[in-house]
Amino acid sequence: MNFLVTGGAGFIGSAVCRHLCANPAYRVTNLDKLTYAGNLASLRPIENAHNYRFEQADICDERAVLEILRRDDIDIVMNLAAESHVDRSIDGPGTFIETNIVGTYRILNAALDYWRGLPAERKSGFRFHHVSTDEVFGDLPFDGGMFVEETPYAPSSPYSASKAASDHLVRAWHETYGLPVVLSNCSNNYGPYHFPEKLIPLVILNALDEKPLPVYGAGANVRDWLFVEDHACALELVATKGRPGESYNVGGNSERTNLGVVEAICDLLDARRPRAGGTSYRGLITFVTDRPGHDRRYAIDASKIARDLGWAPRENFDSGLARTVDWYLDNKWWWGPIREQRYNGERLGQGPIENSPTQNSPVGNSLIENRTDESSKVAT
Ligand code: NAD
Ligand code: DAU
Repeated sequence: MNFLVTGGAGFIGSAVCRHLCANPAYRVTNLDKLTYAGNLASLRPIENAHNYRFEQADICDERAVLEILRRDDIDIVMNLAAESHVDRSIDGPGTFIETNIVGTYRILNAALDYWRGLPAERKSGFRFHHVSTDEVFGDLPFDGGMFVEETPYAPSSPYSASKAASDHLVRAWHETYGLPVVLSNCSNNYGPYHFPEKLIPLVILNALDEKPLPVYGAGANVRDWLFVEDHACALELVATKGRPGESYNVGGNSERTNLGVVEAICDLLDARRPRAGGTSYRGLITFVTDRPGHDRRYAIDASKIARDLGWAPRENFDSGLARTVDWYLDNKWWWGPIREQRYNGERLGQGPIENSPTQNSPVGNSLIENRTDESSKVAT
């Protein structure tokens, strides 16, 4: 079976490539533009595997995608390529519209063209798997409720709005043109090879650098955390066994407040790499201005994928977080160059807006001691 994984040099895409390549019956083509978030070092464990190849390309380039689909005889497209960071979407939504909406439109066109030309026996087996997020559903109150597949879309950020638009396009290509699509909507991932703009790796690396650990607002917002390798297993199941036209929610059943996550990281580091002087890393926690439009709580009901496809996560949050902290302690070769050359942890997502689709530069650089913000949805 031949897979085309887009965004395979990113955090989740590289985990998917590493996971799929472990199966000798699979061949994997990784198509990635190599934006700031793409990193071929994340593919080092498989870069010489017989069943893996890399192709630098943009999903917005319909012709290039079509050529690759034909050249590599693709059976399954897994579309992970995206701009993925909410804070960057606040500073500069343009690239999010380009890649997440226009790019999805372009790759759908290429896939449809390719699929129409397949012989009947391969046509029925072809799948276009679109990898999406729980953020399309908006947010939940603190005191209850979970996202199910039927929850209406209500995205809050430019990022989640662009992902919602892409999901709608994918469904439209199924309903209108018959393209066999499957979708998945997942909660927050964490684990090895996570770009250190996201909460968990940012906090680990800032702590090791003795820098402030920025907690937005009061740290009361809740996310449902899933270890990335468990997500990769879920994605293989959805791509190979999911029913065309259906979507599957994926989550870790591990709800935590942001402050709880940051404190747990501090406690793990206190045990593994004690600070000089013996005080806790918790002393570095700094409450900063909230994210505009900050979603309060996400929680995923993953019973459909468990029931229909037999998926269950292997890691719980404590075991997965410990593995993650250990990985960062052991793999400075991976994150050192990123912190030095690409992103050193400055605050993102406070605007003002950058309109250029090619410019997505960090804006704002200050950690402000401030627990309240009028734009926050969290009562403080
Ligand atoms: P990431 O930012 O780590 O990686 C994105 C990858 O896409 C990078 O390698 C980048 O170079 C590539 N890319 C960007 N624009 C491209 C383009 N135009 N053409 C080709 N490649 C391009 O993202 P991630 O966290 O691995 O997320 C992957 C997917 O999973 C995204 O679609 C995201 O919306 C979705 N998702 C992420 C999470 C999460 O917690 N990280 C949760 C649910 C869903
Ligand atoms: O829910 C799935 C989504 O999870 C994915 O679709 C996104 O691609 C992924 O980036 C992630 O989005 P979040 O915005 O939830 O992730 P992030 O790591 O940026 O933030 C997690 C929480 O931590 C969020 O409530 C904001 C907060 N936060 C984040 C940063 C970077 C802080 O308190 N301080 C920080 O410095």
